[in-house]
Amino acid sequence: MIFDVGRVRAAYPALRDGHAYLDGAAGTQVPDSVIEAIAGAYRAGIGNIGGTFAASARSASLVAEARRAVADLLGAVPEGVVFGPSATALTYRFAGALSRQWRQGDEVVVSRLDHDANIRPWIQAAQRAGATVRWAEVDVATGELPTAQYESLIGERTRVVAVTAASNVLGTRPDVPAISALAHAAGALCYVDGVHATPHFAVDLAALGADFYATSAYKWSGPHVGVVAADPGVLEGVRPDKLAPSPDAVPERFELGTLPFADLAGVTAAVNHLAGLGVPDNGYPASPASRRERLLASMATVQRYEAELFAHLLGGLTSMGHVTVYGKAAHRAPTVFFTVAGLAPRAVAESLAQRGINVWSGNNYALELCRALGLEPAGAVRAGLVHYNDAADVGRLLATLGDLAELSPVSLTVA
Ligand SMILES: Cc1ncc(COP(=O)(O)O)c(C=O)c1O
Repeated sequence: MIFDVGRVRAAYPALRDGHAYLDGAAGTQVPDSVIEAIAGAYRAGIGNIGGTFAASARSASLVAEARRAVADLLGAVPEGVVFGPSATALTYRFAGALSRQWRQGDEVVVSRLDHDANIRPWIQAAQRAGATVRWAEVDVATGELPTAQYESLIGERTRVVAVTAASNVLGTRPDVPAISALAHAAGALCYVDGVHATPHFAVDLAALGADFYATSAYKWSGPHVGVVAADPGVLEGVRPDKLAPSPDAVPERFELGTLPFADLAGVTAAVNHLAGLGVPDNGYPASPASRRERLLASMATVQRYEAELFAHLLGGLTSMGHVTVYGKAAHRAPTVFFTVAGLAPRAVAESLAQRGINVWSGNNYALELCRALGLEPAGAVRAGLVHYNDAADVGRLLATLGDLAELSPVSLTVA
């Protein structure tokens, strides 16, 4: 498969404003196909589901199609795909529902690497249930989440192990299959935060050993819709608070109120867009038949493209004497967290914004990690690559940061 970034960029109208969108980790832009799918759903007419008329049936189809699309994206089954307003809201929902079964002295394991969305809901649920919270720590020198510690963290009282598939600031990808295997051996469930990982890698729930996998479509070229994918059999055993007349079946019983039907058309379009990012080259034997196969091949192409671009970005940053890069995990998403000597992260982000470069500063809700790294309260600067970024975006960031050396007390050193 080949990856043609020019073709990909042309699909995104927002990129035409000339800004370098290196803020994808906080939310991506959307391609025309997603915009059209959402507008098309409204134009065609939608109604609440379960009615007797065509518009109602159209909404039911949009929901069913979106479940199938997300199942293809994650290697899940449609009956296990739950939609909600955000990954945070869904994780609160699942933490609340799962913790009803916890008893005094039960344990949950959270990690210092995670976004707060996969920490605080578990801590608060544990407090209410009288359960104990155990922490997996980050090696601050490398940004790794050592797997070995889970052997002593997980025990027969462990109910849930919550861990990220990729850090939203350092990019670190923990060994989730090994961690989930330890959880399962102890009879615990593994809740994986896949929000940061999903746009960068082919995802397979079974290979990860994820009992629950949270993701958010707005991180992968879609609208603001949250997802949790799980084995329907596992969902059957969980009883959330819900309204009396609303469906009691799985997965509907986890979906409070009315789903955003038009946005779900956008979710399906986003998955189709990801499936088409890589295109078969001339030597490719045949276009893979199923959408799942196309997604696997396309995301593998995306991963290779992003890794190459990221190596360029990382190489440039680490050669600058006035820039400190945090984390050097062996396996990582193309996301970098750094500070510029003598300049507040917010001031760096403002300088970059003045030159049309979009990055984030602060802790990006990786609060515990930033505390462990000694970066609170200012955090650091985050630049994240996604498939629509190109060498020009990276070049602009590096050139501007190079210029900031003049404002920094540490002079630029040439490697
Ligand atoms: C790793 C990670 N987890 C969870 C979230 C929260 O996602 P949502 O905004 O859908 O609640 C984010 C958002 O930035 C994230 O990066």
